[in-house]
Amino acid sequence: MCGIIGIVQGRGEVASFLHQALKRLEYRGYDSVGITTIADNHLHTKKDKGKVDDVHRSMNLDDIPGSIGIGHTRWATHGAPSLMNSHPHFDCKNEIAVIHNGVIDNFLQLRTDLHSRGHKFKSETDTEIIPHLIEEYMKEGMDLATALKEVTKQIGGTYAIVAISTKEPKKIVCTRNGNPLVLGREDGVSYVSSDIPAFLPRTSNMILLLDGEIATLSVDGIEIRKLSDNTLVNRETIKISWTADQAQKSGFPHFMLKEIHEQPDAIRNTLRLKPEVFENAAKIIYNARRVYLLAMGTSGHAAMASRHMFASIAGILPTFELASDFPDTVYGALSKDDCIVAITQSGETTDTITAVKYAQKFGVKVLAITNVVGSSITRLADYTVITQAGPEIGVAATKTFMVQLISLAQIALALGELAGFMDSKEIERKRQSLQEIPEIVSNVISTQEERARRLAGILYDRPSLLFLGRGVSMATAYEGALKLKEIAYNHAEGYSAGESKHGPIALIQSDYPVIFVVPNDRTRNCVIGNIMEMKARGASIISVVEEGDTDVDSLSDHTFTVPAGVEPEFSTMVYVVPLQLFSYYMATRSGYDPDKPRNLAKSVTVL
Ligand code: AGP
Ligand code: GLU
Repeated sequence: MCGIIGIVQGRGEVASFLHQALKRLEYRGYDSVGITTIADNHLHTKKDKGKVDDVHRSMNLDDIPGSIGIGHTRWATHGAPSLMNSHPHFDCKNEIAVIHNGVIDNFLQLRTDLHSRGHKFKSETDTEIIPHLIEEYMKEGMDLATALKEVTKQIGGTYAIVAISTKEPKKIVCTRNGNPLVLGREDGVSYVSSDIPAFLPRTSNMILLLDGEIATLSVDGIEIRKLSDNTLVNRETIKISWTADQAQKSGFPHFMLKEIHEQPDAIRNTLRLKPEVFENAAKIIYNARRVYLLAMGTSGHAAMASRHMFASIAGILPTFELASDFPDTVYGALSKDDCIVAITQSGETTDTITAVKYAQKFGVKVLAITNVVGSSITRLADYTVITQAGPEIGVAATKTFMVQLISLAQIALALGELAGFMDSKEIERKRQSLQEIPEIVSNVISTQEERARRLAGILYDRPSLLFLGRGVSMATAYEGALKLKEIAYNHAEGYSAGESKHGPIALIQSDYPVIFVVPNDRTRNCVIGNIMEMKARGASIISVVEEGDTDVDSLSDHTFTVPAGVEPEFSTMVYVVPLQLFSYYMATRSGYDPDKPRNLAKSVTVL
């Protein structure tokens, strides 16, 4: 899940670019940071545990010589965050440096073998076997690329690997299996990275590297070859529409707050996609016998919320399954008549990719919804909707959640037309109402932000909070709770309000905060009943309601309000906004950095 960056340029020093790129990559991991360059035929390294700014403060990451280098931010899988476990890792003679994302699952055996052949290891990582294996192959006379190619025959697991050697001081070599690497090229400079934003200030020319390929980067260009037969691959350059500014905080204290504020534009841009995009997606669902929505985390909550849209607008109720558990739940009960809708903002989540690959063995059709052009899911799917949120840097998903919901709403409307389930005038009316969502979200941000900040000042030290909603609002409640626990570390549970009396109500005692999502839809009266049950046991009630709902307001200790008249199927897009803001201020009030929650990384590329 780490961040990877590499650069080769003809002259000038690369260290400060690598340092800045690592800052842009910190959302992928921040256990440790490291840079290695080559100058005067030697490797020059600075690395340590901790965040980029802290390590830079103690050792000045800008002051490393060399016009070729690699950098890494780590999300530890093998060995605790420490100086010795931080990347890059080296061979015995300190001539080869390697950075790696992922897990080498047969590393123990390889390490034992290498050890018995006299190799000395300095870290507990799985990564360190790679430079030592390369060392052995280079000793046999192979060049760096051939040696790395041989290494891929030995190692199992998922990985993105980038290597340099003082023996070939003007080249970077990289390969991947399951984990992302993108290449960039402009003005005689070659780049490799785990994510596009890392090199975006220098180039928006992106070249994909696929599994089973190896790339050699130099000032002369980028050469991609197939690992299987060494044939040259001619891959086109993709012009990325994201801008470097989008990957800056632009005056906001955190990316998360900036991205919450960017939601209206993200929705507008996604609404501007051509109608065929959603119609094509709808056809895949329409032609399927069974429809499974697969996703993780926040994307899973978008999937949950969309079930309601599909049911009420198109008369189709898809099943939502956590991608991580899907293969172990479905047990092969799949056929070529089924379809999967895989929702993943990064397009790289291993749980989702693995479930999709599993289902494809049965001939299942795959529709993907992702925010990243060229990501792994786009290459697996039969059809992909690319949402238009721009780069999302904060680890907590906000604007990508919103554009997933808007895309799912558009697909549900197109499907409604195909299925003829809802009257076409009614579909058109709902379609028009979607156009109003950006303005409504904007209104909620401007009217509720201060309220969220103040409420966080009251509740920030509560050890536990419950988030409740019914029907579609269950997904809103789940998302509110996930946001809170992942960035503010208060224990939070999202639950069905209906289910709450079957267990969670036992938690309630005087002043326990319970947050209710109460749109003015068919769930409202039942939810009021659930509020009364919680109040009777002393809970402190916080509700998200539409303006003018004085009944629920009068039952609540604190209220967030949103504009009235939101279509019931689309309410999550509006009602979740105060909860995003509340989590953000709960985190900052407690002194936490919401962009870098502990133990988490932006895209989860391990199973
Ligand atoms: C969201 O705030 C979390 N960081 C996380 O749950 C995330 O939604 C999940 O890992 C799925 O990511 P994806 O959309 O990139 O697949
Ligand atoms: N498995 C490697 C390690 O623990 C790489 C982890 C990562 O992807 O950051 O160091």
